Formats: sequence, structure tokens, C-alpha cells
Amino acid sequence: MKTLVFGASGATGKHVVLHLLERHHAAKIVVRESAKIPDKFLEDQNVEIIKGDIDRFSTEEIHALLVDCDSVVCCLGHNLSFKGMYGKPRKLVVNAVRKITAALAASNTPKKFVLMSTTAYTNKSHGEKNTSGEKLVFSLLEILLPPHKDNVLAANHLLYEVGASKQIEWVAVRPDGLIDEESTSHYELLENKIRSPLFDPGKTSRINVGHFMVELLVNEDLWGRWKFKTPVIYNKG
Ligand SMILES: NC(=O)c1ccc[n+]([C@@H]2O[C@H](COP(=O)([O-])OP(=O)(O)OC[C@H]3O[C@@H](n4cnc5c(N)ncnc54)[C@H](OP(=O)(O)O)[C@@H]3O)[C@@H](O)[C@H]2O)c1
Repeated sequence: MKTLVFGASGATGKHVVLHLLERHHAAKIVVRESAKIPDKFLEDQNVEIIKGDIDRFSTEEIHALLVDCDSVVCCLGHNLSFKGMYGKPRKLVVNAVRKITAALAASNTPKKFVLMSTTAYTNKSHGEKNTSGEKLVFSLLEILLPPHKDNVLAANHLLYEVGASKQIEWVAVRPDGLIDEESTSHYELLENKIRSPLFDPGKTSRINVGHFMVELLVNEDLWGRWKFKTPVIYNKG
């Protein structure tokens, strides 16, 4: 199996690639010229490195990258710097998701798509509701914090524009507060949030997110359970 990974130089994306390599699967990673690439990726023949900025890629270029891949994972996110949060591209994630889904729609064979989303996304189509406090804060964040708006638009694109498509099977994984851990641990997967991401956030290890994403790609039962959904992932305990 070969997976095209966007955001592979990021704190979560690198775990996706490492989990793929651990299982002897191949990864084609798209990273910026300036990205720091882990030595392990440079040394492993199962990693193909494509340098370039996703924001400048056309749908046709992404389609060409996809030809020999079975699946796509997008772990893109805005860097936690003033430039990353407020500079361009403000719609990094949704623009990438739009191009990826357009490229997938043009593929001859159906391929899986996994998006890194967030519990800050409220899946209203699945009965989730925000409290009045959350509504107020999320509305402010949509105005004041471009990366939040970007994540909302990206998940909305999958739910409301792509929907349950035959050609594009997708899962939008929603971690809660991300933390870094050395090894995987037990985690739980839920259809809906059970804690407020704003006022009572839980924890989710990035390594567990990577583990779940790769499990989705390799385990057909798990994929069938979560396709077209927005699973929430929390560390257990
Ligand atoms: N913080 C939380 O608690 C939390 C919780 C749930 C979900 N999330 C979401 O999870 C996502 C990923 O989180 P993370 O911590 O793994 O992120 P991260 O370490 O910052 O990784 C972001 C990735 O996106 C790439 N990227 C950033 N700006 C780019 C640009 N302009 N053009 C091309 N690539 C670009 C980065 O590439 P470079 O290496 O080149 O910079 C990197 O590969 C984010 O969208 C975040 O909103 C966060």
C-alpha cells in the first residue's frame, strides 16, 4: 500500500509516516523546501519525497501524484507563529482538501482520504450542539483566528460538498488537545464529543492520531465503521 501524505513534516504527519513504515507500507510525502525531514524518512526506501508547496499545486498535479497511491492523508495545519496564523495562505487546509477531493474524483479507482480535523469542529449533521458559551467563543474564533475557520471549512467541505461519495471515501479524524508522547497508548473513538474542547478539553497524543489514521487505511472493518464520519479520538485514562 502506498499513501500520499500532506503535512508529513508536521508533529502529527510524521507519526502517520512512521506508522506506515513500521508496517512496511510506502509513503509519498509532499513537503515544503524549508521543511525539516526526519532522518528516518531520508534513509527509508519506502519514502518518496516530493518538494513543493501544496498551496501552489494544481488539482492536476495532485492527481498525477495520486496515480500510484491507494490513499491520501492530510495533516496540514498552520504553523503556531504570527505568520502561520495570520499570514497567507489563510485557507491552507480547505484549499488543499478541495484540490485533493477534486483529484480523487478524477481518479480511475476509489481511494481513501483521511483528514486531520479537530474537536473544535462541531458536527451539526450528527446532532452535535454547542452550548451558548461555546457558540460565543467559536463565533469569535471564526473571526479572529483564521486557522479555526480554515479547519471548519475543510470539514464542512467533506460533509456537505463531498458527502457519501462512491469515488471518495473519507474520514475526518477529530483529536482533542494534542500532546506529544513517545509511544502509543490506549485511546477511545467516539462518534461525538463528550467534553467541551474549549472549557474541559481532553488529551490526544499525536502518535495515537497517527496510529488510528494508519489503522483506518489498513483495516477494512475499521474503515467501514468510520467512513464518511468525523470520529473523535481521546487518550484513555
Ligand atoms: N493544537 C491542538 O491541540 C489541536 C487539536 C486538534 C487538531 N489540531 C489541528 O491539527 C492540525 C495538525 O496539527 P500538528 O500539531 O500536527 O501541526 P504542525 O506540527 O504545525 O504541522 C503542520 C504541517 O503543515 C505544514 N504547513 C504549514 N503551513 C504550510 C504552508 N503554508 N504550506 C504548506 N505546508 C504547510 C507544515 O509544514 P512545515 O513543516 O514546512 O512547516 C507541517 O507539515 C492543525 O490543523 C491543527 O489545527 C490541533
